[in-house]
Amino acid sequence: MRTSRLTTREVQAHELMDDPACDPEALRRTYQQFRVVNRLVAGWRQVYTCRLRPIMSATTTTTVLDIGSGGGDVARALARWAGRDGLLLDITAIDPDARAHRFAKALPPTPSVTFRQSTSAQLVAAEARFDVVISNHVLHHLDGPDLARLVDDSLGLARRLIIHNDIARSRLAYAAYAVASRPFGRRSFISHDGLLSIRRSYRPAELASVVGPDWHVVEQFPYRILLLHPGSGTA
Ligand SMILES: C[S@@+](CC[C@H](N)C(=O)[O-])C[C@H]1O[C@@H](n2cnc3c(N)ncnc32)[C@H](O)[C@@H]1O
Repeated sequence: MRTSRLTTREVQAHELMDDPACDPEALRRTYQQFRVVNRLVAGWRQVYTCRLRPIMSATTTTTVLDIGSGGGDVARALARWAGRDGLLLDITAIDPDARAHRFAKALPPTPSVTFRQSTSAQLVAAEARFDVVISNHVLHHLDGPDLARLVDDSLGLARRLIIHNDIARSRLAYAAYAVASRPFGRRSFISHDGLLSIRRSYRPAELASVVGPDWHVVEQFPYRILLLHPGSGTA
């Protein structure tokens, strides 16, 4: 295990799954395992209960954009929860990576979730608008100008709320994930890329310093950062 104190963010190393030539079977397993990891650590149930459900309605459809949806499990979970609560939700889940898009599309369809192969910038160019824009585990992939572009894209796309949910870098999270992910590591990138993701992730003060003053950085248990914005409000 890497023994660094994680005082600085890793910016050189890139995740194995980002390599276009990576092992496709290992990538497929990684997308499959995202579902388990996200359910255990990403805290979307809490985000849904405390931040999304209160602004949703049983009579008017709330539109949601999931940027960088990967295997699509977060979008599907939100649609299931909203369906159980009798709330109307329409989710567009985008990822520019053809491999992620193929994986998500190949699973049995979830009513009210549409998968599209697209970047956030392409939707901005198409003048698309959504009530809510979310992402999960996307911020740490991006540095400098790319992060600024994603943040700007989400501002251009959201009317009512933006929630970028990611890991908060911490030694304890790193040590716990190193142990917990070991059994899943065979022919999957979940252990290697998960650990690298923690090293690449932002601390709350770092993230706050690279976004504008209108954004709020909120911590959520365990070792999560939510980057929040109330959206532009215009139609
Ligand atoms: C680590 S994956 C996260 C997948 C999924 N959200 C999850 O948590 O399991 C990050 C994804 O973000 C996508 N991505 C990065 N920048 C993007 C952008 N500007 N628009 C849409 N997707 C983007 C990448 O293609 C990648 O599949």
